[in-house]
Amino acid sequence: MTTWGTPPAAVGVAHPKPEVVRLERVGLDFDGRPVLKDLSLSIRRDEVVSVLGPSGCGKTTLLNIVAGFLQASSGVALANGREISGPGPDRGVVFQSYALFDWMTVQDNIAFSLSCAGRPRSEQLEVAQQMVQLVGLTGFEKAYPYQLSGGMKQRCGLARVLASKPSVMLMDEPFAAVDVQTRETLQEEILRIQAATGCTIVFITHSIEEAVFLGHRILLMQRGGFGAFKEYAVELPEPRSNPENRLHAEFVRLRGEVYRDLRASYAAEAA
Ligand SMILES: Nc1ncnc2c1ncn2[C@@H]1O[C@H](COP(=O)(O)OP(=O)(O)O)[C@@H](O)[C@H]1O
Ligand SMILES: [Mg+2]
Repeated sequence: MTTWGTPPAAVGVAHPKPEVVRLERVGLDFDGRPVLKDLSLSIRRDEVVSVLGPSGCGKTTLLNIVAGFLQASSGVALANGREISGPGPDRGVVFQSYALFDWMTVQDNIAFSLSCAGRPRSEQLEVAQQMVQLVGLTGFEKAYPYQLSGGMKQRCGLARVLASKPSVMLMDEPFAAVDVQTRETLQEEILRIQAATGCTIVFITHSIEEAVFLGHRILLMQRGGFGAFKEYAVELPEPRSNPENRLHAEFVRLRGEVYRDLRASYAAEAA
């Protein structure tokens, strides 16, 4: 089992888990046009937070601020207690496009961040092998991306991000391009990996099912709401990777509630 981040609080002591992401009244303007306004959010270690909302409501912008690709126009954005001033290895980003290097093997794609950091080759190979096992790509270490299916490419993309042991994984509709069965398998894998590593995940999706299955919390953003969101707690049994959770009464109830809220926001927009 691979673990990273700070150790959990001593047993029996009810300390909240450390805050991995903190946004305080964050605003962001593009060319003087506000996209996010006064957005406050706290995400703790070990949490999976799903972000849902119609196209253009600011999901990717929010993720890009946490990733350090965009600087907030106002407010404070912190990762692990430090002000976010750019990308960092503590925040891993998984894109929908796999962003793999076509000319590198699976192993070398995964080891890339370690090779950039100047880690010895023996360590690169050891970590790559651990990550290959973690994401279920054993036997494909020497394959090139063109020899992999879409689902396998996404596993490799995940392994590459996991290799730098980020405290938070930022995922922007990562499974949108794979077929439904592969997508469900990858969702289960993500939760298995999350439970094994204790890393925090912020997961943007258009799929209500995906948001409910993955998240401990769901944030539903509204179009034109400048990042305002409604929040839902997801109370599903552990292990959360159990596919049977998709049939659980609470899954069905919450999917319905979020669906109705989303429909109501579209109807309000069209009125
Ligand atoms: N680089 C940019 N320059 C100007 N406007 C942008 C830029 N990126 C996003 N926007 C605008 O900001 C809003 C939110 O975009 P985005 O965060 O990509 O939404 P979502 O991911 O929810 O679909 C949209 O109106 C979009 O057109
Ligand atoms: Mg987006």
